[in-house]
Amino acid sequence: MRFKGMKVLVTGGAGFIGSNVVEKLLQEGARVRVLDDLFTGSMENLPRSDSLEFVKGSVTDEDLVDSVVKGVEIIFHCAARNIIASTKNPRDDMRTNIGGTLNMLLAARRHEVRRLIYASSTSVYGNPRYLPINEDDPLNVLTPYSVSKLAGEHYCMAFYESYGLSTVSVRYSNIYGPKQSFTNPYCGVVAKFFEAILHDKPIPVHGDGSQTRDFTYVDDAVEATLLAALSPKAEGEVFNVGTGRETSVNELADLIIVLFDSEAQVEYVDRRDIDNIRRRVVNIEKIRKKLKWIPMVTLEEGLKRTKRWIESL
Ligand SMILES: NC(=O)c1ccc[n+]([C@@H]2O[C@H](COP(=O)([O-])OP(=O)(O)OC[C@H]3O[C@@H](n4cnc5c(N)ncnc54)[C@H](O)[C@@H]3O)[C@@H](O)[C@H]2O)c1
Repeated sequence: MRFKGMKVLVTGGAGFIGSNVVEKLLQEGARVRVLDDLFTGSMENLPRSDSLEFVKGSVTDEDLVDSVVKGVEIIFHCAARNIIASTKNPRDDMRTNIGGTLNMLLAARRHEVRRLIYASSTSVYGNPRYLPINEDDPLNVLTPYSVSKLAGEHYCMAFYESYGLSTVSVRYSNIYGPKQSFTNPYCGVVAKFFEAILHDKPIPVHGDGSQTRDFTYVDDAVEATLLAALSPKAEGEVFNVGTGRETSVNELADLIIVLFDSEAQVEYVDRRDIDNIRRRVVNIEKIRKKLKWIPMVTLEEGLKRTKRWIESL
């Protein structure tokens, strides 16, 4: 019960990662308020609990943000326009991902929130020069989404340095697992592959499938996020949240085909605007040392658990 009696706010709490954070916080005894405009989130992701309050609205609404932050001790800021929505509409991305983050930070400062944890992304590394990628390696923003996610991080750092507001950024690397929507067009590659298999369709791979990612199971990402909220050593820091294992999209497709004992074929389709990152795998030494966090769930096990979740729906 690490959060017993604590009042926390989770923005984007009806989304994939946010709702997993909410569920864990409730198990840990927190009183949770969620702010979400349901752009991609869904009420079905949220458990029923007397300790949960849902507010429908946008992080871009300054007055609303101020009212939901009031009385809260910790903020998990997960609300964001995702990479596909952002690529289609960079202005909306800027308003939400940058403007919304600034609203959260201003309100957090005004109401003396103890800490704000910012959900950032390894997309800020673009095509890295070295692998595995360290937090202080060169950044290389290639999409409007990575511009806005990095701007959010920079604002967090600036509020920490300028006003002493305690902030932490966690750079998530390709999170997958239960509650990741596989029916909306914005879902990630793991969910997309599951969706194809379940509907007896070919598995759509953009490009030649040799591009790699560091796939991270959501429970591991949630635990890293909670440690970032609790540890005194996390303040003012940026952490990679990944596994250190590099997996190609072709390998991922094979793993999922074997898991379902399926005869599905891979169908190679055109690369999209967002498919400009060749390889990604992150170094997790910093978070291991400072927060004593290591990922517990292998890709094979995480895919198995995700399959079990889908079958339980
Ligand atoms: N899933 C990943 O692999 C991954 C990787 C890196 C970073 N992230 C970051 O983690 C966070 C959560 O991502 P996710 O994968 O759960 O995506 P998601 O789309 O499932 O969750 C985002 C949530 O934010 C809400 N939202 C969007 N705009 C909003 C607004 N203006 N006001 C209030 N709520 C709003 C959505 O309705 C949704 O519930 C995001 O900040 C994302 O950038 C995710």
